[in-house]
Amino acid sequence: MIKIDGKQVAAKVLEEAKTAISELKAQGLTPGLAVVLIGEDPASKVYVNSKVKKCAELGLHSEKIVLPSDASQQDVLDVVKRLNEDAQIHGILVQSPPPPQIDEDAIVRAIDPRKDVDGFHPENVAKLALEDPTGYVPCTPAGCMRLLKDTGIETSGAEAVVIGRSMIVGKPMALLLMGKEGNATVTVAHSRTKDLAEVCRRADIIIAAIGKAEFVTADMVKEGAVVIDVGINRVEDSSREKGYRLAGDVAYEEVAAKCSAITPVPGGVGPMTIAMLIQNTVKAAKQSI
Ligand code: GUN
Repeated sequence: MIKIDGKQVAAKVLEEAKTAISELKAQGLTPGLAVVLIGEDPASKVYVNSKVKKCAELGLHSEKIVLPSDASQQDVLDVVKRLNEDAQIHGILVQSPPPPQIDEDAIVRAIDPRKDVDGFHPENVAKLALEDPTGYVPCTPAGCMRLLKDTGIETSGAEAVVIGRSMIVGKPMALLLMGKEGNATVTVAHSRTKDLAEVCRRADIIIAAIGKAEFVTADMVKEGAVVIDVGINRVEDSSREKGYRLAGDVAYEEVAAKCSAITPVPGGVGPMTIAMLIQNTVKAAKQSI
């Protein structure tokens, strides 16, 4: 059984980014990323801070904008407009999920698609479906593809089951797997799927992106399957200092005993998401020339 080391693959992606960043800097262009956080969601705070920290480590320009949890739609649109016009900013990310009064779709549509390093804007969603390489691919599914590739897992001809149909992970993941790079046969399963366990048992590759702790159990996994766990869930645990532990969407121990390769949580997909964000930001800077 291979425990897929996301930190190691992420380090490789960031090494490649570093080279590209120094080349751009030599031309007088420092890639810049703006990260917008609305409200106080503790997990979002952690993600946003780690994104900004990674930019600093790599010598990228970054800006963190924090809006109060009662910010209005117009407040957020004003920030996006300013960032769209800021020549030092090549990538804009508005952390999801925003508070309930914010219409997230409208915010995403307001971002200049050339700066949409999340790949959530309809123009980039279309480019992904069209396999147009000038678009931006959402970071988490892009990271999953890179993990599969660097681990030497053959996706071509494989039966892949994606559990979850979100715009952040499930749908783009399915497009990537079925596209020219993945060449897999893809099933997208979700909360209404009939006999989910049976569908999952057909899979050579399972991508778990449901957002429910330890949802995928050993009985749902074929012997020798590859399991990519996208979930990062906080589970109450009074024995931990923070009062919680992190758990993926996969019951790790029992599934690991059955599969041929699996990503741990933490240390699997998580580090890849940030690495791909940096990669997208560098791409946006390059494409701005
Ligand atoms: N929330 C969880 N994942 C993501 C992501 O990739 N981008 C943004 N903007 N928010 C998220």
